[in-house]
Amino acid sequence: MKIEPASAAVGANISDVDLANISNAEVAKLTEAWARHGVLFFRDQHLSPEQHIAFAERFADIDVNQFFQPVADYPQIAEVRKEADQIVNIGGGWHTDHSYDQIPAKGSILLAREVPPTGGDTRFASVAAAYNELSDGLKKTLESLHAHHSNEHVFGAGTEHKEAAGERFVNPEAVGGAIHPVVIRHPNTGEKLLYVNAAFTTHFVGWTPEESRPLLDFLLEHTAQDRFSTQFQWEPGSIAMWDNRSTWHWALNDYHGHRRLMHRITIAGEPLTAA
Ligand code: SIN
Repeated sequence: MKIEPASAAVGANISDVDLANISNAEVAKLTEAWARHGVLFFRDQHLSPEQHIAFAERFADIDVNQFFQPVADYPQIAEVRKEADQIVNIGGGWHTDHSYDQIPAKGSILLAREVPPTGGDTRFASVAAAYNELSDGLKKTLESLHAHHSNEHVFGAGTEHKEAAGERFVNPEAVGGAIHPVVIRHPNTGEKLLYVNAAFTTHFVGWTPEESRPLLDFLLEHTAQDRFSTQFQWEPGSIAMWDNRSTWHWALNDYHGHRRLMHRITIAGEPLTAA
């Protein structure tokens, strides 16, 4: 198995491995590379739904997403789909999956089934690299803060997002939120990670949303800089496997008139630890 960095800050391309027939030694190597690089990219892994589920379960139990339409007969797999006549995509802004849960999903394993002829790439950013470049003064302030995360404005009944997603989002009554430290520690590497994101972080605990906005906006713009990120171009059978604590991702929506179909499995994490 070959592991080559995809950019200076985040991501690694993995080759010479067959994810349908993976040994314990390869799982251990991938676990180490995943923690180190934040997101792993694979090509030509045409896994069946059963093989996709079996691969995910080598790393942790599956944390079933409650809001995406599941793949027929496979409730463990969430469908990430945009039809040729749809305008809004799923995941079309910087975010990390499930930060609205008290114990957020550790990681996500996304498998490309159908991709547009051009476009439809996904960007990934390192919240470790972004955090490291902040001033000591701001780091100290952030380490003293907690933030609210909510999904009500995304998946809740009658919201603009839910209306635009149509039948692709389900269970609007299950919406909720959680409070997390703004800086957490990665359970494997011990690195400090900035744990806020554009989609789900609403405000800092003890601050109003209006007071929180300027600092959140600064952190979002800072982390989104090109030097902390990389972009992955999909082919059918490509897989990206990302760590939801140490990375953000953003599905680009630049392929109107074409279908894009992805299958996503989220895997269970552990309680977050403050830095
Ligand atoms: C997601 O946000 O989980 C989906 C990412 C993508 O479709 O590229």
